[in-house]
Amino acid sequence: MDGSLGFTLVLVGLLLLTSARHADSEDDGKLLCMCENAKGTCVNDTCRGDVCFYTWVQGHEEKGCFSNHDYREQCFTSFERFHVYCCRESRCNAAATPPPNINGETSTVAPLQPRPELWIAAALLLFVTAAGLCGLLIFLRLRRAHVRLKNADEHDISMLKVPNGEDPTYGGIYDEFCTSGSGTGLPYLVQRTMARQISLVECVGKGRYGEVWRGTWMGESVAVKIFSSRDEQSWFRETEIYNTVQLRHDNILGFIASDMTSKNSSTQLWLVTHFHELGSLYDFLQYGGLEPESCLKMCLSVACGLVHLHTEIVSSQGKPAIAHRDLKSRNILVKRNGQCCIADLGLAVIHSQSNDYLDVGHNPRVGTKRYMAPEVLDESIRMDIFESYKQTDIWALALVFWEISCRTTVNGIVEEYRPPFFDLVPSDPSFEEMKKVVCVDQQRPSLHNRLHSHPIMSSIVKIMKECWFQNAPARLTALRVKKTLSKLDLPADFSIKKLKQDF
Ligand code: ADE
Repeated sequence: MDGSLGFTLVLVGLLLLTSARHADSEDDGKLLCMCENAKGTCVNDTCRGDVCFYTWVQGHEEKGCFSNHDYREQCFTSFERFHVYCCRESRCNAAATPPPNINGETSTVAPLQPRPELWIAAALLLFVTAAGLCGLLIFLRLRRAHVRLKNADEHDISMLKVPNGEDPTYGGIYDEFCTSGSGTGLPYLVQRTMARQISLVECVGKGRYGEVWRGTWMGESVAVKIFSSRDEQSWFRETEIYNTVQLRHDNILGFIASDMTSKNSSTQLWLVTHFHELGSLYDFLQYGGLEPESCLKMCLSVACGLVHLHTEIVSSQGKPAIAHRDLKSRNILVKRNGQCCIADLGLAVIHSQSNDYLDVGHNPRVGTKRYMAPEVLDESIRMDIFESYKQTDIWALALVFWEISCRTTVNGIVEEYRPPFFDLVPSDPSFEEMKKVVCVDQQRPSLHNRLHSHPIMSSIVKIMKECWFQNAPARLTALRVKKTLSKLDLPADFSIKKLKQDF
């Protein structure tokens, strides 16, 4: 045994001894938290992380661990039917219970308390441990590289990758393939293999388009959209776009895989994406009222998603401009952090000014009549000009903002959920019924007085009005909407205040 190996063994031994002695403490920089979830990540009902959490989502409880990154994303979100409690002491999520006002009960959990002395001690400990570990890792890596190089020289084999026994995650697989390759998604064979390893768990949505299921892949929840055979063109289009365009963005639904299988001579078309347990914005708005700040967060996130779609990026990792053409609250999903993401690219059109092309696809489907812009309804739209499609998205964006605003409480007043033009057309309106209301009578959704008395809401109302101009070119662009909303942005401590109110 040479000196350096002896030194390594002593160090590793010391580390193991220390961590065994303090298995329940914070000496490894991680907390021990109670863990109850369906993701198969708990060991003996516990897990280790930077923060312990307890979530309550429409009656489903979960306990577990967050990393510091998850903490920033997830801990400052609470809605009527979605509550998060985070704390930073060992097993502090053990006694967490549903939040107040759910069954008229009050919560027994203590609010998140700032403990400066604990923070300083933890930070110091973390720094010392991290520095030690980094040193050890660098030492081990250098040593291994040295041995590998020696072996490669001697035997002409090098760097064979072997499985390390850890479960893969789709994020990990994506990073592995996509940061080195074209950057537009996993290879088809990998997508197919992943799709075939999915177990369907529960159906969460059904419509003319087909069905959406929650499935699991390697213990992680994924969403599986199973297209009805009559909507196969939407599957082709969405698959094409996700596989050819770099669309990774916080406010665009994350793509995992597409798969086509043949079963008893019928074709099954799957699109596998990230799963968002709060469901669509349409579903979410049925539950309860929003604060103006949450309304702003949602509107801004949808605008950010639309800006990303509408913008052509000219670079090696660039993207063409895309117009959605079926934007509506049912095609927007709500994430745990209170932001939204845009889904369903089955009808999208693609445009590249730099390469001089406009690709409108071959889908016989049309957008949703209730959300159609006047120029679509009176058929005056210039279908050979890409700008026209972006302008119809902006019209639909205004209607989505209106739906969110109606569910926002100001001065204790909130309206019940209603779809746009609920008072002017019947359910499942015809093209002609919509045309009469929107083009002939030039009606717009009505705006409750309370919205004018709140600074955030009155600004959102102003944006809405400038997005539903009859004259399409006069409408705001997505970028202008995003910039205006960004200036109304939340005070930095809004989420923390809200969290403390809720518990
Ligand atoms: N409904 C439609 N798509 C969904 C998704 N990705 N996650 C959760 N519910 C959905």
